[in-house]
Amino acid sequence: MKNKLIKKVLVCRPTYFSVDYVINPWMKPGTADTEVAMKQWKHLVQVYKKLGIEVNTIEQGEDVPDMVFAADQGIVQDKKVLLSRFRHRERRGESKYYEAWFSDNDYKIHYLPENVFFEGNGEMYFWNDLIFLGVGYRSSDETIPTLQKIFDREVIPLQITDPRYYHLDVAMLPLNNQTVFYYPHAYTLETQKILQKKIPNLLEFSQEEVLGFGGNSVITDHHVVLQKGNHTLEKKLQTLGYKTVPVDVGEFIKSGGGAHCLTNVLKETVE
Ligand code: ARG
Repeated sequence: MKNKLIKKVLVCRPTYFSVDYVINPWMKPGTADTEVAMKQWKHLVQVYKKLGIEVNTIEQGEDVPDMVFAADQGIVQDKKVLLSRFRHRERRGESKYYEAWFSDNDYKIHYLPENVFFEGNGEMYFWNDLIFLGVGYRSSDETIPTLQKIFDREVIPLQITDPRYYHLDVAMLPLNNQTVFYYPHAYTLETQKILQKKIPNLLEFSQEEVLGFGGNSVITDHHVVLQKGNHTLEKKLQTLGYKTVPVDVGEFIKSGGGAHCLTNVLKETVE
């Protein structure tokens, strides 16, 4: 069994975080508290540092409240990045800040063809020699050939059927190269069958676990950083030999994003 070890992440300081518009069913404008969010985010950063992860920070633009969700901005491998293109106009202004950050930090930037939408690590997982891509709400099917070409892997599209699980990282979580958690009802029957065929140890989340954002966790080695309150999931993970590290990113969940969405992995190793 192989585990991933995160070495370096990119996160965005949530100076101007708020919920201003509605582009997923979680969002209720005016509900998030910017100060509380900042405290929660600082704690998450501390947790990463304690786990030995190098944390890089980008500053938030004033006009882009969802810019805090660093995972959605693109996917990075080695020193190349495929920059996202957001489905919703409300989020498109975020990309220029990340583009500048990647360029200042010597990443080779790849761009999607015109009118093709893709939302980065929120929407896909590298898993063994495959890429799982969530489709249905945000990414376009036309992303597939681009991903295949840039990252040289087979892309498996997974059809999401419920808007609450609009991004792949809300209801699916690979634990290691054998074991993956998912919430079956978030996906079509055909997608469920594909996953059952491809994944040797496919485990189910309960609805309570996905609605508690337990699926939106960050895994490094044998540690799982997850939203607090997910007691049943913590037990399952501990039984599998993982150490759980609860955090509270509740303010961000009011915008439909948890710990995984706040974190873009820049470097990891497989051991
Ligand atoms: N409000 C943001 C949106 O709907 C939340 C994004 C959360 N990101 C994620 N990877 N699930 O786009």
